[in-house]
Amino acid sequence: MKALVCEAYGPVENLVYRDMPDPVPGAGEIRVAIEAIGVNFPDGLLVEGKYQAKPQVPFMPGGEFAGQVAALGPGASGFAVGDRVLGWNVGRGAYAEQIAVPAGELFPLPASMSMDQGAALLCATATAHHALRQRGRLQAGEILVVLGAAGGTGIAAVQIGKAIGARVIAVCSSDEKIAFAKAQGADEGINYSREDLNQAIKRLTDGRGADVVYDAVGGDAFDACSRAMAWDGRLLIVGFASGRIPTLPVNLTLVKGYSVIGVFWGAFTQREPAAYAANMRELFAWFEQGKVVPVIDRVFKLADGVKAIQYVTGRGARGKVVIRP
Ligand SMILES: NC(=O)c1ccc[n+]([C@@H]2O[C@H](COP(=O)([O-])OP(=O)(O)OC[C@H]3O[C@@H](n4cnc5c(N)ncnc54)[C@H](OP(=O)(O)O)[C@@H]3O)[C@@H](O)[C@H]2O)c1
Repeated sequence: MKALVCEAYGPVENLVYRDMPDPVPGAGEIRVAIEAIGVNFPDGLLVEGKYQAKPQVPFMPGGEFAGQVAALGPGASGFAVGDRVLGWNVGRGAYAEQIAVPAGELFPLPASMSMDQGAALLCATATAHHALRQRGRLQAGEILVVLGAAGGTGIAAVQIGKAIGARVIAVCSSDEKIAFAKAQGADEGINYSREDLNQAIKRLTDGRGADVVYDAVGGDAFDACSRAMAWDGRLLIVGFASGRIPTLPVNLTLVKGYSVIGVFWGAFTQREPAAYAANMRELFAWFEQGKVVPVIDRVFKLADGVKAIQYVTGRGARGKVVIRP
């Protein structure tokens, strides 16, 4: 099969498009013929050796995919050859024509969901869902501020915030990105390349601050939000797309009585499988109701996978980017 392979840690340009052996499904595993691969910001970090996990080279990056069941390993059950599925493989192996994963990592792809949408539903969308449901305990009527709101996981947080019934403020670096977030349901927007973010949040909330902040950006944006939280607020640490992991004067949390809460969706899927499955049921239901529908920005060929990663990490994506092998 063809695959995009990391042969040594380094810049994503060093990824090699080449032949790899077809994966053989082991006990309890299923081989999927991949039709769509979701591109995520961490894919680039993994290849550069800047991610928490450091798999042994050579490996294929990419965690989320949709496709058809091609073969069942010994003892694997729950699916039949030809079934349409989507799945997650702890962040690697999916930049390829085929993948073998434990049967438990797959979900049936709803008939109304395209392969591209299925490949975009897990990492970005399910992270936003887990963050806002379990970690942020977002309630209807609360004020949700989403940083990097036009990006893959940001736009999912906007849609999920509206599905829960929150008032959603989208924070983006351009008016065009804000317009995109508003088209996906955001009530208001802040252009943080032009306006002081702390002041803007206070202006839009009559000085009250944000109940929940979804922060996949970090850096200066985190610093601003740490000073714009409402009493009993929840500041969710999702990622550091800006490149700077911020530090926090913890007296701010004391004075304003708010919590800073870490979000790690990949670990959540492994540690709390029942809650993960329940979350996916809610996301599938919201998809059927048209409330949470992955927005596909661009589709790349697998041979052009480097360009796909660069488009995402280079701040280009409006929603999700997908690769088709
Ligand atoms: N914790 C978890 O479980 C988990 C799961 C998935 C993803 N993540 C993390 O979430 C973050 C976002 O992932 P994503 O897939 O949504 O990425 P994305 O689509 O590229 O969106 C990231 C957004 O961050 C903003 N940004 C600010 N400064 C940036 C910079 N210097 N370079 C690039 N983007 C910058 C951009 O919005 P503006 O241009 O509007 O500023 C961009 O739209 C990543 O750090 C990723 O590792 C965490």
